[in-house]
Amino acid sequence: MIAIGSDHGGLLLKEAVKKLLAEREIPFEDCGTDNGDSVDYPDFGERVARKVSAGEVERGILVCGTGIGMSIVANKFPYVRAALVTDSFMAQMAKEHNNANILVLGGRVLDESAAKTMVATWLDATFEGGRHQGRLDKIAKIEQELCK
Ligand code: RB5
Repeated sequence: MIAIGSDHGGLLLKEAVKKLLAEREIPFEDCGTDNGDSVDYPDFGERVARKVSAGEVERGILVCGTGIGMSIVANKFPYVRAALVTDSFMAQMAKEHNNANILVLGGRVLDESAAKTMVATWLDATFEGGRHQGRLDKIAKIEQELCK
């Protein structure tokens, strides 16, 4: 299950990504927003990141205007590794090296078709583990210390 969310700046791209998920028959939960009214991205980033952090969903996708705000919010949550990507190579590395469990996109900076390719690339990629797991373990250790 994928939780997906956006603010008004990411709404159109969120809807496009939902179509991709539906085409691939990947179950998703839309956490809003659902119209173009101006909203605050932390509210929707929180909804998705909480679910990923709690293990309620395996992955999340967040979209705001640039992707920056959503990245900042999502990475506050324990166990979240949110990656803002701007091309398919980054999307691939986000999974292969960083095991990113939330993909973040900028609705005002990305071409829709390119963004959908990034999502597909991230979904299809596999975490390589090995030395990359060791690096993620270091991040988890920092997180555990700070969250005590
Ligand atoms: C909303 O205007 C915009 O600030 C937001 O979508 C996002 O780009 C923030 O990082």
